[in-house]
Amino acid sequence: MYRYDEYDQQIVDERVEQYRDQVRRRLSGELTEEEFLPLRLQNGLYMQIHGYMLRIAVPYGFISSRQMRMFAHIARRYDRGYGHFTTRQNIQFNWLKLEDTPDILTELASVEMHAIQTSGNCVRNITSDEYAGVARDEVVDPRPYAEILRQWSTFHPEFAYLPRKFKIAISGGKEDRAAIYAHDIGLAVTKNAQGEVGFRVLVGGGLGRTPVIGSEICEFVPWQHILTYVESILRIYNQYGRRDNKYKARIKILVKALGIDEFRRQVEADWADIKDGPGTLTVEEVKRVASFFTDPAYETLTDHDPALNEFKADSRSFSNWMLRNVKPHRVPGYAIVVLSLKKPGTVPGDATAEQMEAIADLADRYSFGESRITHQQNLVLADVRQKDLIRLWQEATAYELTAPNIGLLTDIISCPGAEFCTLANARSIPLAKLIAERFESLDFQHDIGEITLNISGCVNACGQHHIGNIGITGVEKKDHDEWYQVSLGGAEGNNSSIGKIIGPSFTFNQVPEVIDRLLQVYLRERMEAERFIDTVRRIGHGPFKEYVYATDLAVEEEEVTGKHVVAPAEYSVPYYSPRF
Ligand code: HEM
Ligand code: SF4
Repeated sequence: MYRYDEYDQQIVDERVEQYRDQVRRRLSGELTEEEFLPLRLQNGLYMQIHGYMLRIAVPYGFISSRQMRMFAHIARRYDRGYGHFTTRQNIQFNWLKLEDTPDILTELASVEMHAIQTSGNCVRNITSDEYAGVARDEVVDPRPYAEILRQWSTFHPEFAYLPRKFKIAISGGKEDRAAIYAHDIGLAVTKNAQGEVGFRVLVGGGLGRTPVIGSEICEFVPWQHILTYVESILRIYNQYGRRDNKYKARIKILVKALGIDEFRRQVEADWADIKDGPGTLTVEEVKRVASFFTDPAYETLTDHDPALNEFKADSRSFSNWMLRNVKPHRVPGYAIVVLSLKKPGTVPGDATAEQMEAIADLADRYSFGESRITHQQNLVLADVRQKDLIRLWQEATAYELTAPNIGLLTDIISCPGAEFCTLANARSIPLAKLIAERFESLDFQHDIGEITLNISGCVNACGQHHIGNIGITGVEKKDHDEWYQVSLGGAEGNNSSIGKIIGPSFTFNQVPEVIDRLLQVYLRERMEAERFIDTVRRIGHGPFKEYVYATDLAVEEEEVTGKHVVAPAEYSVPYYSPRF
């Protein structure tokens, strides 16, 4: 993985010291909260319901064991013993004291980490495929390019005050595993007919209140020109993106307003000026960065381990886990293991300090000291010898990391919702738990097969509900009770789509029953080997809607107490304030 050089380290260390002084001035009253706000946001520190929340960047989701142990230490020493892994491959801590945050950032800097550009209207953490470098369907390893983009976007002076936040994802497999269609820029690194490396570039995707699937702006940008091409996209956006209305400020709105053809024309006119300039990549530079992502010391092994088959036959739990959580590796004798952070009854994406330490130990013993965050809020050990799978499973089971549910109904993506987030209309986490408990039966989940279920507590779509096969959103209603809209037909990957709302919204307790009815229609209508999403696409929404709304949903309602909270200052000041 990439290691900081002396310049990286110096920049990060200096930034911590500046921040330390800013916190000192805030605590002594020299700075008002209003003056301090843009300073802390530039260091990933938000104000949420319980106090300060820190979002730490994990570049393209890669974590060394040393870094994972640092997260465990931060969780234990400064937080309430856990952290939350997010869909954008970051980690968030929710219960921090302001006076501790400079020390936290100092500790993070000691393991080459920071929280810069995890908030604000800048280029955010570059995300990528969690199976990068090990997937069997990989065309080109995206990691060197993800790192080049990270270095280029960090502190890029021209793009520090964009009209709005900007998210880039890059994927290198035949199948998109980085949700590139739902990003401001989505990059698919690939090869043309001549075997040359280049990028299919998508632009103007995004979720939030106006969900849009990205459009192709260029079919193939040769690798040498990818930075300048991305730079031109950002320059056009920076110049013409709407700064007068934060709800219309994302690039997707500009691309829609101009149309993709006119947007492309403007980008390419700009690009003509900078195409062969200093941003052009050289073979030496790509090689230099790629040298951080060479293969670990793989042994020469084969894919056939009789002990595994025997154990699978003996243990149903193990064979279920092998089926759902273990993925094929490009090197014979190795496997990719997904550690589930979705055991029913737990909070999706949360890991305790003990779990983080256990994961660091497992990574050291079985996966060359590295783990990865998935964009579904799970963790991956990417390089496990197949002959270690039984021991790994036994050890990980002791830490509740082996729920065999990857890609199944209880592998729910959920945002923090009303228990943490000041923008929420409704709770997400308790709903995720209620649903997971209701459909916990593994036989049932295996029968349903692959399905995605995403929950967001409001229209901002942090739980990416628009691209869930079933999406649930907390909606604003005058009575201030919790109401949820249900959408159907969303999907990520190569065939991405935005789900459509099925009808009037539901109360908290009705939602599991609604899901049950949707599943019953699927079980009734599915054709052989058809996934839930395939059935929805084939028969349309009609039969699902009809059955859900056919008769009353008989469930006991719990009383909902007021959860409406006033948004903190950062959501009422314009994001584009020149003071930021
Ligand atoms: C609790 C603190 C959080 C706050 C205040 C927050 C705020 C927001 C806002 C305002 C948006 C809408 C942006 C727009 O439409 O322009 C957004 C989008 C998003 N957030 Fe969060 N978020 C939080 C936590 C999270 C977490 C925990 C995750 C991951 C689990 C996450 C992932 C995302 C994603 C994937 C999007 C939609 C993608 C897009 O930007 O188009 N956020 N967030
Ligand atoms: S979707 Fe809404 S409720 Fe959930 S974290 Fe994002 S802003 Fe908060």
